[in-house]
Amino acid sequence: MGALGAFGRVTGAVWVLVRNDALLPRELDHLYPPSMGALAKALRLFAGSGARSGRPGERLARSLESMGPVAIKLGQLLSTRGDFFGREFAEDLSRLKDRLPPFPTAVARAEVERTLGRTIESLYAEFGEPMAAASLAQAHEAKLLDGRKVAVKVLRPGIEIRVRNDAESLDLAARLIERWVPPARRLEPRAFAETVIRATILELDLRLEAAGADELREVMALDGYMAVPPIVWEGVGKRVLTMEWARGWPLSDPGALTQPGLDRQAMADNLIRAFLSQALDHGVFHADLHEGNLFAAAPAQLTAVDFGIIGRIGPPERRYLAEILWGFLNKDYEGVARTHFDAGYVPAHHSVAAFAQALRAVGEPVFGRPASEVPMSRVLTQLFEITALYDMHLRPELVLLQKTMMTVEGVARRIQPDHDIWRAADPVVRRWMTRELSPLARIRRFADEAATALKNLARLIENPPAAAVEVGETRRGGSALLWFAAGAVVAGGAFLAAMYWG
Ligand SMILES: Nc1ncnc2c1ncn2[C@@H]1O[C@H](COP(=O)(O)OP(=O)(O)O)[C@@H](O)[C@H]1O
Ligand SMILES: [Mg+2]
Repeated sequence: MGALGAFGRVTGAVWVLVRNDALLPRELDHLYPPSMGALAKALRLFAGSGARSGRPGERLARSLESMGPVAIKLGQLLSTRGDFFGREFAEDLSRLKDRLPPFPTAVARAEVERTLGRTIESLYAEFGEPMAAASLAQAHEAKLLDGRKVAVKVLRPGIEIRVRNDAESLDLAARLIERWVPPARRLEPRAFAETVIRATILELDLRLEAAGADELREVMALDGYMAVPPIVWEGVGKRVLTMEWARGWPLSDPGALTQPGLDRQAMADNLIRAFLSQALDHGVFHADLHEGNLFAAAPAQLTAVDFGIIGRIGPPERRYLAEILWGFLNKDYEGVARTHFDAGYVPAHHSVAAFAQALRAVGEPVFGRPASEVPMSRVLTQLFEITALYDMHLRPELVLLQKTMMTVEGVARRIQPDHDIWRAADPVVRRWMTRELSPLARIRRFADEAATALKNLARLIENPPAAAVEVGETRRGGSALLWFAAGAVVAGGAFLAAMYWG
């Protein structure tokens, strides 16, 4: 039954793709082997009016929009694979919209009461009509008993079943593709489908979104580049999220940029600095920073909402990112190249000098022109294209970061058309370099790395792999000795490092 249902839904999805000529698009005719070319021509007999307008990426976006939440998430994630599909296709796909007609307010109120286990009246003085509705949830305007204005996000009723069914269909589709479409195997369809499904399911628990908002609010409060409205925890449950109202106007609203007293330059700077400091300083960033999720208040205050997608990057990637931005800001291509080799991103058998030459090819055209004309995200894109030539495998979180940077830069340019992202970024990157590359920080990092390496070694000795030799009685004593040795090496290393850098 389940399998049959999934099969039916996959067939339905294929039909939508055929109607939009998004399955075997005509633009790729020259790539198909003869039998597939014949199939593509036959299928095109069924194409509808939607097939005539737009590029293939736009047609695919349109098809996926109509298929529900998992398909929409699939489109969003596919759009991060410009390396596989080409840049234009990925960009067209990334403009996919997630908007649906709202469900009735009475239903939302019932969902809130059930989730929170209390009446609407016991928490809200007013609970208004929906302001916006997407495939997973919709948002209502409301007021708390103490008078604070809030936004209440409520999951769509029955959305879990919908997602479970769609997930089953996507998994089936991925298995069929893996079996029958060999060229798609490089994209690892089943693993990709799993990522899509997992990302959608995580968004089905609004407590996680509330926690993400809270975390970003905490880190953003440190330097004030961006504000995040406080969460009202009393009004948070798996299917409900209550957050204080954001100050100002949504940037998607034309009125936002004509407010009196607005400092556009400062506002664009704040946006870039907020994003970079989230990623570099804190390793956690809002990964959905489009105009609909940003509020602007004069003179230059930005407030973010919607924490459904949070990106995270670990310390090595943060360091990598800071060093390449610093390197490009200072035209130090050798330095950027060495960073790639040190981080192990580029295998040691390649030449640092040749790699630095490739980096110069990315950097020089940038700095020969007014910087404001060259997006930082494009530099990263080109950098990632070049690094692919050097067998570098990009970590997915860096791809998400680069995508978000593209969005953020677009928004900054619309706030202030000649905005120079490189100048805006400089203080955040400089601050990072001063802090993290100070002698003290180097020692701390060296000690951390040594300790981790030794801890791993100790773990290996304590839990030897099945085939390892019997350590027997000496095991505990052995590990104590090892800990002593570890301590000695860390202390000695720190001392040497202090001598060397200090
Ligand atoms: N705290 C808030 N203050 C004011 N408006 C909000 C707030 N949170 C959400 N909204 C409005 O509701 C819309 C939808 O909420 P959002 O969290 O972005 O949901 P979605 O995931 O559906 O995009 C937002 O684009 C914004 O206009
Ligand atoms: Mg939103």
